[in-house]
Amino acid sequence: MLDIKITKTTAPKAKPTDESKLGFGKIFSDHMFVMEYDKGQGWHDPRIEPYHPFELSPASSVLHYAQEVFEGMKAYRSADGKILMFRPDCNAKRFNDSCDRLCIPTIPEEDFIQACKTLVELEKDWVPYAKDTSLYIRPFVFAADDGLGVHAAHHYIFCIIVAPSGAYYAEGLAPVRIYVEDEYIRTAPGLTGFAKCGGNYAASIKSGELAQQLGYSQVLWLDGIEHKYVEEVGAMNIFFKIDGKIYTAACTGTVLPGVTRRSVIELCKDMGYEVIEGKIAVEDIGKAGEEGRLEEVFGTGTAAVISPVKELRYKGKDLKIGDGSIGELSQKLYDTLTDIQWGRTPDTKGWVVTVCEA
Ligand code: COI
Repeated sequence: MLDIKITKTTAPKAKPTDESKLGFGKIFSDHMFVMEYDKGQGWHDPRIEPYHPFELSPASSVLHYAQEVFEGMKAYRSADGKILMFRPDCNAKRFNDSCDRLCIPTIPEEDFIQACKTLVELEKDWVPYAKDTSLYIRPFVFAADDGLGVHAAHHYIFCIIVAPSGAYYAEGLAPVRIYVEDEYIRTAPGLTGFAKCGGNYAASIKSGELAQQLGYSQVLWLDGIEHKYVEEVGAMNIFFKIDGKIYTAACTGTVLPGVTRRSVIELCKDMGYEVIEGKIAVEDIGKAGEEGRLEEVFGTGTAAVISPVKELRYKGKDLKIGDGSIGELSQKLYDTLTDIQWGRTPDTKGWVVTVCEA
């Protein structure tokens, strides 16, 4: 159990008054959690401080070699006056799996969860009230050695910041258009694809920008070897409903093991669907589309929740999905999942954790 020292701000910021304009990750609360690691000493000095910039040496290793890992979670305000979190144990475990791949010292799962809960409780007034808004929680850790040698650092900083947020996409729950990237790749077997590390996202930005210039929200990545099998989308995992069955890429090292992804797989199975996690060729999706068998496509993610897809562009051809409106399953999954997350329905799965009374 961490002994967290709390120093409160003497200059609290004004909270956003118009929650319809929150956007995603633009406004930050009054405090942040910080803990440091030094070789030989381990993690030390857990504390909550007023939100402030870091002072870093220009030679800090993260700035040069990107030894960094992050997570994404949310805190929800329930109708019966509680602040809730969703499956924080899954994020704590994935954080450590990512740390292990990046040679960053892990954090005991209970300490990770305690740090998140303590910060959220202190910042509970920052959890927004409007429908579909939440407090986005961003834990991250980075190498902070002062020097240019390429090796695992000896000094790390772990930090958590929180941001009252609305929908990730400007479209909200409205279906998005996705560009299938067949030139650049995000990862390949043996690389860091399964880890939530900044480097994966850095490598994705060029394609994302090009897709946006063409009017697409994000890129759908294909496998890094054959450029043939679908893997994931920029900020979410992706699912296809074909002939009544649900398909998604298997998590075999190149795909982010999303917490929403695994929850949605379970919910689909509960609803009686067959869910196939495996290799799905983009050509087969195109064929299913042309033959009218591609019923729905949707992305899943903490930030994105459920994001229906209305169009896929692959090799210069646009594949329209359904009539362009939200599919029945996408809507049902969105409702079921968000009802659990916001405590509107009994949590029969043990996914919801109460942080505090609101
Ligand atoms: C999340 O869904 O929490 C993410 O981290 C995705 C993205 C905003 C990078």
